Amino acid sequence: MVEQTGNIDALLQEERRFPPPEEFARKANIRDPGVYDEADRDFEGFWARFAEELHWFKKWDKVLEWDPPFVKWFVGGKTNVAYNCLDRHLGARRNKAALVWEGEPGDWKVYTYWDLHREVCKAANALKSLGVRKGDRVTIYLPMVPELAIAVLACARIGAPHSVVFGGFSIEALRDRINDSQAKVLITADGGYRRGNVLALKGNADASLEGAPTVEKVLVVRRTGTADDQMVAGRDVWWHDLVDAQSAKCDAEPMDAEDILYLLYTSGTTGKPKGIVHTTAGYMVGTYATAKWVFDLKEDDVYWCTADIGWVTGHSYIVYGPLANGATTVMYEGSPDYPDRDRFWAIVEKYGATICYTAPTAIRTFMRWGEEFPKRRDLSSLRLLGSVGEPINPEAWMWYWQNIGGGRCPVVDTWWQTETGQILIAPLPGITTLKPGSATRPFPGIQAEVVDEAGVPVGAGQGGYLVLQRPWPGMLRTIYGDPDRYVEQYWSRYPDTYFTADGCKRDEDGYFWLLGRVDDVINVSAHRISTMEVESALVDHEAVAEAASIGRSHDVKGQAVVAFVTLKESVPASDALVAELKQHVATKIGAIARPDDIFFTAELPKTRSQKIMRRLLRDVAEGRALGDTTTLADPAVVESLKAQYDDDE
Ligand code: WT7
Repeated sequence: MVEQTGNIDALLQEERRFPPPEEFARKANIRDPGVYDEADRDFEGFWARFAEELHWFKKWDKVLEWDPPFVKWFVGGKTNVAYNCLDRHLGARRNKAALVWEGEPGDWKVYTYWDLHREVCKAANALKSLGVRKGDRVTIYLPMVPELAIAVLACARIGAPHSVVFGGFSIEALRDRINDSQAKVLITADGGYRRGNVLALKGNADASLEGAPTVEKVLVVRRTGTADDQMVAGRDVWWHDLVDAQSAKCDAEPMDAEDILYLLYTSGTTGKPKGIVHTTAGYMVGTYATAKWVFDLKEDDVYWCTADIGWVTGHSYIVYGPLANGATTVMYEGSPDYPDRDRFWAIVEKYGATICYTAPTAIRTFMRWGEEFPKRRDLSSLRLLGSVGEPINPEAWMWYWQNIGGGRCPVVDTWWQTETGQILIAPLPGITTLKPGSATRPFPGIQAEVVDEAGVPVGAGQGGYLVLQRPWPGMLRTIYGDPDRYVEQYWSRYPDTYFTADGCKRDEDGYFWLLGRVDDVINVSAHRISTMEVESALVDHEAVAEAASIGRSHDVKGQAVVAFVTLKESVPASDALVAELKQHVATKIGAIARPDDIFFTAELPKTRSQKIMRRLLRDVAEGRALGDTTTLADPAVVESLKAQYDDDE
C-alpha cells in the first residue's frame, strides 16, 4: 500500500534489528545513551569538551558566533591542525605506526608518528623554499602515495590552504580548479599504479598548466619512473631532490581558528565546480570527535578507510580525524581487483585491520564477485565496519555484515557531505541498535529534521527534505570566491536552516532513512518515489548485483519508472526475469513503483567517485543527446547502453 506522504513517498519497510554485540558494547568508548540529551542541553559545551582534548597555542575566547548563515567556531583561538595530528603524539606515540601505506604492486611502508612528523616538516620547509607563504593556495594532484598525506599535512603546518584534485580528474578539470583557487604551487607525480597499469599524471598536469598562469613551481613525486624526460627547467623540481635535503625541523604556524585549512572542489548541478571552504579549528574538532566516537577508536586499532584522499572522505577520515586521534591509518594506492578480487581482504589480513570504512558501490561490487574472495582471507581482526557515500541498501548491508564482519562487527552507516566536513548522522556503535539501510540518528549535538516544501516537519514514516537546524563545527564556511552562491545554494530555501538537497524519512523510532538526492526522485502519478528505494528492492532480488532507476516522461503518469540492472555474474538475462523483477519491486514496495521497463547492462555509468550518473540514464531513456559526460569514469558504458536501448525500443 502506498500512502500519500507529502513530498516523497517512503515505501521500503525494513524490520531487521541489530543491537550492539555484547562483546563490542562492553568495551565501547561510549556506553551511555545519556550523551544525546547532554549534548542537546548545551551543544556548544559538548563540542568545547572535545576541543579541550586538543592542543591550542591560545585558547578560544568564545565557542560559537552564529550570524546565519555565517559561522565562527572557537573564536579567538589559535591552533594548528598538523601539530595536533603529529607533534601532539610525539610523546607516548612516537614509535606507533601513524601511516601504513600499501602500493598496488605490493610494495609497502610504515611511518611511525616520529617518521611522519619528520617527513611533514621537510615537505613544509620545501614548500617554503618554493615561495609558499601562509595563505597561499597549493594544488595537489597525486595518486594515493604517502606523499599525498604528507603534502596535505605540510600545507596545514605552514598555513597554506591545500586544494587536492583527485588523480583521476582530467586536464580541464584540474585547470579549472587551479584557476579558481589561483594556486601558486602544484604538487604532482609522474604517475601511479591502477589495475596493473601506470596512470600517467605528469602529462595531464603539464597540459593543464597551459592556461593556468598562477602556478610558479611544480613539485614532482617520482613513483613510476615515467616522466624523467618531462621536467620543465626552472619550473619543475623533484620531490626527492628538494624535500629530502630539507631540515626536519619546522615550527607549526599558529593559525587563527577561522583561517582556511583547505578548499575542496565538488561538482554542482551547473558546470562550474564549487570550492568548498573548510577552516581550521572547527573542522579539526568535528573530525576528531566523530572519528573517535563513530569509529570507537582505540589505541591498538588499525583503521582503514578505502576512499581516495581526493574526496572529502579521505581528507576527514584517512588523514585529519584518525591522526588527530593518534590512530594508525591505512592507505592503499590501487584497485580492489588487482592482482585478484581479494585484494582488500588481503590488506585487512596483512595489517590486521580492525576497522574498515568503505562505500556501498564497492560493497555491491564485492557481492557481485561473490563470497569466495573474502573467504580466502582471515578477516577475524575486524571489529567494526563503516559505509559512506550513498544510501546503503539493506541487502548490501546484510552482505557486508555477514561476509566481511562475520556477524560480529557493527556496521556504521555514516551520512555526511563534502560541505558538512564531518559525519552528521551515524550510529554510536556501542549503544545504537542498527537497522540495515538506516544511518540511524544524528550525532550528539546535531539538530537534523525532515521537512516538507513549506519547512514543516513531516510525520513519522513520511518522506521529505533533510535539513540541519543548528551549526556544527566542521561545516563549510563559504564557497571560495562566491559567497552569494553559498547563501543561495544552502541557505535560501528555509530561514537559518541548512538545506542538504537529500530526501529522507524518519521512522517511529526517530531513525533517519536517506532517500537519495532530491533531484533523483521519480514522480509517478503525483507520488514521489525515491530512486534509491526502487534500486534497493531490485538489489533485494537474488539475481541482481546492482541497479539504477530513473523517471522517464509518461503521457498519463507524468513519469514512469525505468530501471537499469546489472545481474550477478552467473545469471543469464531473460524476458521471464524482467517480468519477475518488475513483480518483485511491486511486491516489495508497491505497485505504484513497478518499473515500466527494465534493461540489463554489464555496467552502470558512474562518476569517478563511483556515484551512479542517473542524469545520463535519463538522457538515454528519453532518447536525448547525452549531457555533460566529462565527469564520467568510463565513457564507453553509456555509449553501449544507448546503442542497446535504441535497439530495444
Ligand atoms: C552526498 C554527499 C560524505 C562523503 C562522501 C560523499 C550522499 C553520503 C551517505 C549515506 C545516504 C549518503 C548524500 C549526500 N551520501 N553518505 N551514508 N547514506 N546517502 O560526499 O560527494 O559531498 O556527497 O552523498 O546524497 O548529500 P559528497
